Amino acid sequence: MSNKMWGGRFATGPDAIMEEINASIGFDQRLFRQDIAGSIAHATMLAETGILTHADRDSILAGLNEVLAEIEGGTFTFSRALEDIHMNVESRLREKIGDAAGRLHTARSRNDQVATDFKLYVRDTIDTLIIQVTTLQLALANKAEDEAATIMPGFTHLQSAQPVTFGHHLLAYVEMLGRDAGRLADARKRLNESPLGSAALAGTPYPIDRHMTAEKLGFDRPTANSLDAVSDRDFIIETVAAAAICAMHLSRFAEEMVIWSSAQFGFVRLSDKFTTGSSIMPQKRNPDAAELVRAKIGRILGALTSLIVVMKGLPLAYSKDMQEDKEVAFDALDALSLSLAAMTGMVGDMVPNRERMRVSAAAGFSTATDIADWLVRELNIPFRDAHHITGQIVALAEQKNCGLEGLTIEDFKFIDQRIDSRIHKVLTVEASVAARQSYGGTAPASVLTQAARWKTLLTGQQHDPRPLPAKKHGGHGDGGVA
Ligand code: ARG
Repeated sequence: MSNKMWGGRFATGPDAIMEEINASIGFDQRLFRQDIAGSIAHATMLAETGILTHADRDSILAGLNEVLAEIEGGTFTFSRALEDIHMNVESRLREKIGDAAGRLHTARSRNDQVATDFKLYVRDTIDTLIIQVTTLQLALANKAEDEAATIMPGFTHLQSAQPVTFGHHLLAYVEMLGRDAGRLADARKRLNESPLGSAALAGTPYPIDRHMTAEKLGFDRPTANSLDAVSDRDFIIETVAAAAICAMHLSRFAEEMVIWSSAQFGFVRLSDKFTTGSSIMPQKRNPDAAELVRAKIGRILGALTSLIVVMKGLPLAYSKDMQEDKEVAFDALDALSLSLAAMTGMVGDMVPNRERMRVSAAAGFSTATDIADWLVRELNIPFRDAHHITGQIVALAEQKNCGLEGLTIEDFKFIDQRIDSRIHKVLTVEASVAARQSYGGTAPASVLTQAARWKTLLTGQQHDPRPLPAKKHGGHGDGGVA
């Protein structure tokens, strides 16, 4: 039997393989809420503009609400022969209310319908993701406040570089996530135009009111070009691109958690809730959740590649290729959502080993830069020369097999006569971090200021995270803005 929805000119139905490759109901059924919301807005507008009688509208709206209840209640039977969510809903509506259901599709097409549904879905998902990002940021800002004075090694090239505070390190991720939320919000702004009423590709001869449907669906305005409207998939590409950047950030953080929680580092202990044991090695606590978050970027970036490749070279307007946008996009956005949830859980439960971090922070001559800075500041030695002298001091400590704080004043004077005993107070990791009070620096006082700034922003639900510093500072004492 030919398809009831479009099979007027067809003598037979599709081959089984055709049905299999053609149907999208297996994955686009998750658009049911958006599909029904779009139909309610469309039917309401058709009645307001006199295209549909009020009686037909009333039975359509009542029928759609029943269909919605059936799907939500799990009693709806999805049919592959009906291809997609749009035709499954409409067909069930016809079973319920009869011929009036056939009038719902006046002045629209599945092409503008699917673009509308998918935009609504992506918009809802962006809203959820932004809340999740914000929740993770808040968890990090709270931890940063607790760990504002916890000293850990700061690395470059994963080699011990200079001591930093753990709070400062955590706030680095809060900054990244702030930009991620901003990118998602930005994508949302650009996508928020309604394709509904663009019809198949050219618009429609019916006197519809696209501004009305746009407004009913919470769009800022209708799209201005019907060809663009039915063939644009920028909105999902842009959203998945933003998701990929966010997932890349999470992957870096996850990698650090894996490193930090290893026995060799021992900087943090992840909770039982986010680790697993080994079936053969009883001592193991594997950071599986962190490892999986580290890996999720793979499929998210895969989705982005897939979407761009599907769209490249497609002539205007709609082509069925575009049905391939959904599975990968759903998968990518689901993966990011799950990663954010897992990260938030891990951050909340993670227990830092402050002593261990402090000991490690002092290793590797990490305060050597402070010696060079002291030579510049107190003895007015040019930085390049100070750097060279400090290099000799480090070499001496290495030779004596001690840390910089293990060197005596005679040792220092042996390298350079001008050095005096005041040098000792810059050798500790505490002095090193406390001195770094430049705006955005690692000093505990700055970390507290920045953590407080973020907590105010995040609990106020603002997404533009960067007020400018209130006043200009020449260096020290700039703790940022409240
Ligand atoms: N399931 C289709 C999709 O996701 C809906 C649009 C179908 N339009 C068409 N002219 N066949 O793209």
